[in-house]
Amino acid sequence: MFPPVDTNGNVSISIDEGCVQILDGPCTNMWTCGGTYPGLTVRRPTGQPTNVTFTNNLDATAGEMTVHNHGNHSTADNDGQPESLLIATGGSRTYRYDGLEAGGNQRGKTQFYHDHRMDVTGRNVWMGLTGLYIVDDPADPSTLPSGEFDLPLVIADRQFDAKNQIPYVFNPNGVTGDKFLVNGVYQPYLEVGDRKYRFRILNASNFRTYFLELSSGDSFIQIGTESGLLPAPVTRTGMRMGPAERLDVVVNFAGELGQNIYLVDVLTGTQLLEFRVTQHVTDDSSIPATLRPLPDIGEPSVTRNWSFNQTEGHWAINGLRFDPNRVDARPVLGTTEKWVFTNPTGQPHTVHIHDVSQQCLTRNGGPCFAYETMKETWYLAPGETLEVKLKFTDHVGMYMLHCHMVEHEDDGMMTQFEVVGRADPTPRPRPTPRPRPMAH
Ligand code: C2O
Ligand code: CU
Repeated sequence: MFPPVDTNGNVSISIDEGCVQILDGPCTNMWTCGGTYPGLTVRRPTGQPTNVTFTNNLDATAGEMTVHNHGNHSTADNDGQPESLLIATGGSRTYRYDGLEAGGNQRGKTQFYHDHRMDVTGRNVWMGLTGLYIVDDPADPSTLPSGEFDLPLVIADRQFDAKNQIPYVFNPNGVTGDKFLVNGVYQPYLEVGDRKYRFRILNASNFRTYFLELSSGDSFIQIGTESGLLPAPVTRTGMRMGPAERLDVVVNFAGELGQNIYLVDVLTGTQLLEFRVTQHVTDDSSIPATLRPLPDIGEPSVTRNWSFNQTEGHWAINGLRFDPNRVDARPVLGTTEKWVFTNPTGQPHTVHIHDVSQQCLTRNGGPCFAYETMKETWYLAPGETLEVKLKFTDHVGMYMLHCHMVEHEDDGMMTQFEVVGRADPTPRPRPTPRPRPMAH
């Protein structure tokens, strides 16, 4: 029940139609990245250059595609722009990722790639254009569960018709389904040993939010977010998870040999995944008391306010719908800013910022959750206010800021910011010429 993995530095992925066996009966026609749903997992050591070439083999009616590596610190040209640098029908595009950030290696984390085409991201993601991109980092503690005990869980809902097909009908208030898939499998089970496992959970749904619990009443030990490992593990019995959020957790099945334990979505009362604890295995893994410190990104010098609101019946940011010809912020490379997000609407939003991770400053005027120190996709319930800080490192160019409830995004709840070089560069002093060594 896991998508295939490619660990090479050069990866080719065909975006193509495929009929995927999900339910009993007819297979489901989907758009796939490499023939499966979720698509091919790219798994790479940090600091290593990686080229991923996508070829658009879909029917011309699907239009041009663009692929965003969500969570990656990409250059603007390789970030999957919604309205430029597109992959034409029959065409290919190679995205280059250098695995570097702020003078060092990018942190280890669970990223995912997906189509980001303007106006039709919801359709393209619903049809299946999503896959994992995992960055492994030798600076992360080596004692965490690894290898066969480090597993991704990609949760997504779909609505199937009587012929097991998933026609997409846009609804600005979200497209959801009544069937829940984990790694593309309906009502899956996983045989596990009585030991600790690391699960990298991604909410790959277009719109739906989950609240995860274990039927055993056991806790999750959260070790990471979208942006890699937390400063310290956090024990949680229940976890809310909006679209595009990732939860990196350890679950310990010790003492539960012979039991069947479910991963449950409390909001719908659905058993998403059954763990069958069938084997006794030794456990040499451990969770250190401290994991990875937050990077020091300094204090913000500029504050910007972003209201995730509405205009004339459409979703918007600061009252404006997405316009590829408008830029709403021009932060300066190398500086740190404070961004304040508010939600005056009656629906939640998941705030996602491209390019760099953000550190939480306050939530609703108070302290941040210990499991939300650094992220790039933030759940913002109605009436909430979130303050984060972020430092614009390495790359200039255009990046997106949007709601990751993708129907809100397609309806207009997206904008772009352009990281610019220093506006008024101080003239560089001329180097004093070094005296040439005298010939003797
Ligand atoms: Cu995962 Cu701008 O998106
Ligand atoms: Cu939204």
